[in-house]
Amino acid sequence: SSDDHVEIIEVGARDGLQNEKQAIPLETKIKLIERLAQTGLKTIEVGSFVSPKWTPQMANSSEILQHVLETPPQSPHPISYQFLVPNQRGFDNFLSTYSRLGYVSKSSNSEETAGYVANDKRLPSAIGTVDVSLFTAATESFTQKNTNCSISESLDRFRPIVTAAKALGLPVRAYISVALGCPYEGPVAPQNVSELAINLLEMGADEISVADTTGMGTPTTTRTLLKTLKAAGIEMPDIALHFHDTYGQALPNALVSLEYGVRKFDAAVAGLGGCPYSPGATGNVSSEDLVYMMESLGARTGVDLGALSEVGDWISHEVGRRNESRAGKALLAK
Ligand code: HMG
Ligand code: MG
Repeated sequence: SSDDHVEIIEVGARDGLQNEKQAIPLETKIKLIERLAQTGLKTIEVGSFVSPKWTPQMANSSEILQHVLETPPQSPHPISYQFLVPNQRGFDNFLSTYSRLGYVSKSSNSEETAGYVANDKRLPSAIGTVDVSLFTAATESFTQKNTNCSISESLDRFRPIVTAAKALGLPVRAYISVALGCPYEGPVAPQNVSELAINLLEMGADEISVADTTGMGTPTTTRTLLKTLKAAGIEMPDIALHFHDTYGQALPNALVSLEYGVRKFDAAVAGLGGCPYSPGATGNVSSEDLVYMMESLGARTGVDLGALSEVGDWISHEVGRRNESRAGKALLAK
């Protein structure tokens, strides 16, 4: 049944790499994306149209968008490719590449769709969708540090982007960072997260990624947050959970979420990652560990764990980091 299907949203190529100090060559990023696409994953986050002054590692996201659309990675299923967009300027940069490739055109009488109209050109069959991922946060301090604006300003920025993206056929996801603890403000009231989630869904976001940026979440606070979201009328199919493993709680938090009805989880191969604006936070939950646990529980992820483990080992080596996936390392040592 669809009930036992769990979707892994692979964020290694973006969240996983954005914090690396050494510039990672475009070819390495593309190789990573191509290898991930072959493992059975269906959703891969691959770039971020943020300011290169703020997050230099993501500066070549236009090239990644172009490469993926012109030379779609081979994959067993069509893949959704996701790109972070923080503001109108980032969306303009995204659209200018998208229009160069012929999917949209500039049009002067289309103010409500960011000055573009959709063309008839269809995406290559290997691509399911190209998605826009907005991001805000549950606390004012984090929103300021991460995007230099207040929470309400971030929502004002998003509204026209959501309208335009949807009119242009681009699904929209929205992150709520620091949902289970803030590096600047400490514990976060679950109500703040549910209000923000409702706001974003009402605006037209298709999915909310509820993110434990700092890894401060525990099974208890995760359960309380999910209970609050449910009580506020938020449906579990509309959310994904995004855990970081700073305190080693990512898998237990994912287990609690699964029991609560969550079926979508963000994760990064080899446990790569960290947010440059969340000091001390370590990587995402490792995709290999999450797949291993989910499959052991009878959930189907459709991911080839052996192949994914090899990708994790390869990329760790490429970026000069220890492979943080316990399951990945154990499987490769067999
Ligand atoms: P700002 O400095 O306030 O921007 O940054 P501004 O509007 O004042 O503009 C200043 C200059 O930047 C201008 O250029 C703009 O054109 C340019 P100038 O006129 O001086 O030459 N600019 C841009 N350039 C390229 N792309 C853009 C862009 N916007 C303005 N999009 C801004 C505001 C939002 C851009 C900045 O704060 C930013 O880029 N923040 C992103 C930081 C980031 O990358 N964080 C990590 C991603 S979020 C995350 O990791 C959490 C997540 O994984 C979930 C979780 O775990 O919690 C999603
Ligand atoms: Mg993250």
